[in-house]
Order: sequence, then structure tokens, then C-alpha cells
Amino acid sequence: MAKVGIFVGSSGGVTLGVAEKLEEFFEGCELINMEEDYDDLEQFNEFDVLLIGSSTWGQGDVQRDWVDPLYEMQNDEPDFSGKKVAFFGAGDQKSHPEEFVTALGKMKDIFSKLGASTDFGYTSVDGYSYKYSYAEKDGKFCGLAIDEINQEDLTDERIENWTTQIKEEMGI
Ligand SMILES: Cc1cc2nc3c(=O)[nH]c(=O)nc-3n(C[C@H](O)[C@H](O)[C@H](O)COP(=O)(O)O)c2cc1C
Repeated sequence: MAKVGIFVGSSGGVTLGVAEKLEEFFEGCELINMEEDYDDLEQFNEFDVLLIGSSTWGQGDVQRDWVDPLYEMQNDEPDFSGKKVAFFGAGDQKSHPEEFVTALGKMKDIFSKLGASTDFGYTSVDGYSYKYSYAEKDGKFCGLAIDEINQEDLTDERIENWTTQIKEEMGI
């Protein structure tokens, strides 16, 4: 069985809440909170499937606990080939429409460059309203975009649908 690791960076607990819901759907998976549980890049090696979560801060920045690990990845260039990776994260399309959930796109670039397969869990942009998102690739979000501030009522359904989708796409 594929070993699933959910790695999440979350400042206010929203993306962490999404990660905890995801955890319920993936039997035997492990949840790594980047703030408390993350030590070094070796931790990624234990898993075949990575669900990578980050909220977006500043002007389209990744959540602060991802800054050093992503920097290290780009320097050390660990080989992530063979790993299946999907991205999720929270943002705010109303107050930050100019960089809505941009962190997902930035992280996808980095994991792809290290050889990981990252074309999983793309979702429709329908039902969202924003100006720009670096997470939008070929007309879709390159992951699961959660907006708990403006669309809280859609969160559970979005998580459930995404879980079904990535299990199918990854064959796990
Ligand atoms: C100062 C500040 C900057 C933000 N910048 C962005 C942004 O660029 N894009 C976005 O989609 N959301 C942005 N947000 C919204 C957060 O991503 C949103 O509140 C999210 O739910 C936080 O998730 P977390 O609790 O997992 O960190 C920003 C929020 C604050 C307070």
C-alpha cells in the first residue's frame, strides 16, 4: 500500500484543519505539521505520496514554515522521482484576489523540478472569483483551493471531492 504523508504549513489553523480532514480519508497516513513535526528533507523519503499544504501570505508567499524547507530543497535538490504529489491550501479570494492561493503554484514548480509527478488533483476554477492566481495552470487550479473566509460552506464538499479524485488519479 502506498504510504501517504500530509505535510502542512498553516499560520492560523485553516490549512491545518483541511489537512486533518484529509487525514481521515487516507488510512495509515501521517500528518506532519511543518511548525512542530518537521526536522529535515529526509522526512519526505518515507512516503510514496505527498499531500503538500500551505496557505498563501504576504503577496502570494508560501506560509512561513515552508520557507526554509523549500529553500533547502532548491539547494540540495533531493530526488523526488517516483513520488506522487498533490497540493492544497487556503487563501482569501476577496481580500487577496491578486494572488489567490498562489502558494500552490509556487510549490508545484519546486516539487516538479525535483522530479516528482505533480499533475494530480487539479480542480476547476468555476465558483471562485479572483483576479490572478499563480496556482492557475491551463485554466485550472493545480490543487485544492480552500477559502474558509468567504466560502466556508463549500469546504467539506471540496475536500471530499478532491480526496476521491486524487485516489482515483493516483490509483491508491
Ligand atoms: C497579511 C495577509 C496576507 C495574505 N495574503 C494572501 C494572498 O496573497 N493570497 C491569498 O489567497 N490569501 C492571502 N491571505 C489570506 C490567508 O491565506 C487566509 O486567511 C488563510 O485562510 C490562512 O490560512 P492558515 O490559517 O492555514 O494560515 C492573507 C492574509 C493575511 C492576513
